[in-house]
Amino acid sequence: MNTNETPIYYLNLANTILAMPESEIEIDLLIDAITYFQQEYYLKNAPAIDDARFDQLFNLLLRWEQHHPSGIRPHSPSQRVGIHLSQNFQQSQAHLVPMLSLENSYDAHDLIDFDKKAKELCEVAQIEYTIEPKYDGVSVSLVYENDILVRAVTRGDGIEGEDITQSICTIKSVPLKIPLQKYGYQQLELRGEVLMFKKSFEAYNMYLEDLGLPLLANPRNAAAGSLRIKDSSEVARRNLDAFFYHISYLQANASGSPHILKTQLESLEFIQNLGFKSSFIFLKTCPNIQEVITSVLNWEQTRDHYDFEIDGLVIKINNLLYQEKMGMTSHHPRWATAYKFKARQAITVIKDVEFQIGKTGAITPVAKLEPVNLSGVTISSISIHNADYIKEKDIRIGDTVIIERAGDVIPQIVRVDTSARNGLQHDIIFPDSCPNCHQPTFKQPDEAILRCTNLDCSVQVIARLVHFASKNALDISSLGEANIQKFYQEGFLKNIPDIFRLPYGAIENMDGFGIKSVNKLKQAIEKSKSQPLHRIIYGLCIRFIGEATAKTLAQKIHHILDLTQKSIEELQTYDDIGLKTAQTLHEYFSNPLHISMIHELEHLGLSLKNINNVSSTILGNLQGQSFLFTGTLTRCKRSEAEALVEQQGGVILQTVSSKLNFLVVGNDAGSKLEKAKKMNTIKIINEDEFLNLIQ
Ligand code: IVH
Repeated sequence: MNTNETPIYYLNLANTILAMPESEIEIDLLIDAITYFQQEYYLKNAPAIDDARFDQLFNLLLRWEQHHPSGIRPHSPSQRVGIHLSQNFQQSQAHLVPMLSLENSYDAHDLIDFDKKAKELCEVAQIEYTIEPKYDGVSVSLVYENDILVRAVTRGDGIEGEDITQSICTIKSVPLKIPLQKYGYQQLELRGEVLMFKKSFEAYNMYLEDLGLPLLANPRNAAAGSLRIKDSSEVARRNLDAFFYHISYLQANASGSPHILKTQLESLEFIQNLGFKSSFIFLKTCPNIQEVITSVLNWEQTRDHYDFEIDGLVIKINNLLYQEKMGMTSHHPRWATAYKFKARQAITVIKDVEFQIGKTGAITPVAKLEPVNLSGVTISSISIHNADYIKEKDIRIGDTVIIERAGDVIPQIVRVDTSARNGLQHDIIFPDSCPNCHQPTFKQPDEAILRCTNLDCSVQVIARLVHFASKNALDISSLGEANIQKFYQEGFLKNIPDIFRLPYGAIENMDGFGIKSVNKLKQAIEKSKSQPLHRIIYGLCIRFIGEATAKTLAQKIHHILDLTQKSIEELQTYDDIGLKTAQTLHEYFSNPLHISMIHELEHLGLSLKNINNVSSTILGNLQGQSFLFTGTLTRCKRSEAEALVEQQGGVILQTVSSKLNFLVVGNDAGSKLEKAKKMNTIKIINEDEFLNLIQ
């Protein structure tokens, strides 16, 4: 697109094209015109053509492409919501330059320290800084080659990320083609942040509410979730946007003289001139750190004036030569710091306290609040954890409290405003009996948590069933909380073994079920019977046993009932298992009710053996060897293959490096394979060869 042309030029072009017979249309001109009008609309918020004529142009483009499918340009505006792209893209892509994070500053002292180090490293007496918003979104890296967007990648592990090109193409303010060559460059890697404007977030939540679906917590989660969606028309509905703030790689054309950038300010202006939303419009330059400090303190007061969420400011050294001189650590550049805003606070009143029962019987007091808005989210209840916490903060029903929420963190009570007490406040009384099953509650002398010890308490039973079927446990996709509730109410599901003897015939006749959904449920349950042992151990809801500990335990045994033979002392010798966890495990596996449930599960067809372990102790022949899997495996899941390696004493690496011995290549392998080939020292094997090796 010729960026020097005026609106009149494009309006005339549009009129001329619309008057032409289709056979004479020059497709690149039509694309230029549509792209220009889209950019005016999405970047500058200044429509330069009426909607009707724009639609005519767009329909013309679609018609032309339908008749000339081989002539479709990759940067055509029609490709923003396109299925065509997907087939070519691989799952993970290496960044040209590692994608780093930022070091945080919280106050003037931190900024002064930052300035001091910068002056030392650059060997100068004063440094000029830029300040720009820190966008509260999802970071993205775009690569353009010869003017065309070739890929968009998430941060991932910083070395390589997930390919999200399709989703990024739905963002209308992200150009698919830029005048890079005009400025003397052929390749650009650009960093920025994908976000959802507050208005789009509200509209999207209203849409979810209409459908009766759970609402999203904040615009950042909404943006992150949207990018993961495979269906690009669904991503487009979310109305994402993006700002760009850093050029990580810029390669000049072989011939010609590239446009030289000397400062952060010039880089941001360049990014804007290429057609992006950039931090340039917000940028403030400060001659020294004192002015930075004054500016950030003022700026913090205006954080709510933005149409999108910002969670801080980013302070960068303006001079790019100094940036280069300071370099970076493996985690962050030394030439920038993120000044994080203080958590937003709100003031409200505790109207009441309710007690919630968790899957292990823990009874948690939850304060019911006068609903209050905190960083765009209405808060009407807040956990007040346990008796010790309540005592420490001196929380009473009727109290005025200051609450805060820092970033993703769950809201907390900061303090009680005791000056607002009027004598009507009263203490929180913990119940003597479970609010659900009315059995007596129990508190161990050394614990702050009150418990319902009735294993048949319906809330606990349902929560345990939900956990057992959940994604990271047995992963029974058709058995979510709603169905578990229904089956429990019908009397079909009273304990874990009942999952494997559900009366499918009766379920088929229940409201909302049919042959198809019941078959799906049956299949999911059958499939879950062969889940690896560590998932079953995790699924049993034993206190303190998370996924990692469940894996440790599974590696130590051949059959789940081997755990009945382990002493507290022996259990404590395992990684990450302390006295409390060992005692809990010992107690769990000494309880005859649990043992008979485990026998029942085995009888119902669950595999409770660690099959891998049987061979591992015999073989262990991968000792000292490192493996990395890339591409899609067809004969086993990647997680299973990785487990096999670990069982035999091998280790799994995350990146291709000189430490790697074997790269196992599945279908559609990408950049890791290329990198490994170049290194020459790595054995590259396919899935069959890997399985032979293992056997
Ligand atoms: S500069 C080497 N500028 O915040 C370039 N980052 O918490 C480093 N972020 O990793 C990034 N707004 O994802 C930069 N104006 C901004 C930013 C920004 C948001 C993100 C970015 C970074 C993270 C650190």
